Amino acid sequence: MQNIRKALPQDLPYLYEIALKTAFAGLDGTAYYHDPYSVGHYYAAPYLFFDPELCFIALDENNTPSGYIVGTSDTRAFNTWMQTSWLPVLQEQYKQVSYFSSEAEQKMIRTLLKGPGEGIWQNMGYPAHLHIDILSHLQGKGLGKSLMETFCSAVKKTGARGIHLGVDGRNTRAYGFYERMGFSILEEQSWGAIFGKTL
Ligand SMILES: CC(C)(COP(=O)(O)OP(=O)(O)OC[C@H]1O[C@@H](n2cnc3c(N)ncnc32)[C@H](O)[C@@H]1OP(=O)(O)O)[C@@H](O)C(=O)NCCC(=O)NCCS
Repeated sequence: MQNIRKALPQDLPYLYEIALKTAFAGLDGTAYYHDPYSVGHYYAAPYLFFDPELCFIALDENNTPSGYIVGTSDTRAFNTWMQTSWLPVLQEQYKQVSYFSSEAEQKMIRTLLKGPGEGIWQNMGYPAHLHIDILSHLQGKGLGKSLMETFCSAVKKTGARGIHLGVDGRNTRAYGFYERMGFSILEEQSWGAIFGKTL
């Protein structure tokens, strides 16, 4: 097993950093975001507070957190919690923002202000969902596979029997990775695709 452990509160700054450095369809988003936190506020940090048992960290050779997989086994409950507990204070803050470094950042903040929907894939047998990101120097070394296997076995223990996730259509590398990990496309979207896997 590669160097993977459960995520801890001390990992929080690394979650934000890794989220930003993989934010542009899998590539470094630093130049595209004036505010370095919005991506992590939405796609990484909340999972550590909602479902820490389903958050895992990959360490580099110096034991520095360099990748993560975060998710939940109950998307509907997570989305409700996002709307009622996690997002309101951020929405108060971000509704004031009027300067964006890029269209990607504007879209990100629009997403944060709107929040997630009810979680329709839960009704189709895919109640879990995840986000996985690894810094570029550690990609392609098997860490993604180890993180995914660790996550899937933890989700299975919760009793959930299906996982879904969204992939940006420009991120062709991620398409290949998810297919190799046993996911297949459930639905094409204008922005990419929803993938699913039954456990
Ligand atoms: C996508 C990502 C998580 C994959 O993790 P990784 O550590 O690079 O992948 P691994 O080295 O563990 O590869 C696992 C397997 O998938 C295969 N694979 C990886 N990318 C592939 C591709 N584009 N096409 C086909 N197979 C692929 C590998 O060959 C390997 O196969 P094996 O089991 O036969 O050895 C990682 O590259 C990453 O974080 N990218 C940037 C952020 C990102 O795009 N996240 C996903 C957003 S939806």
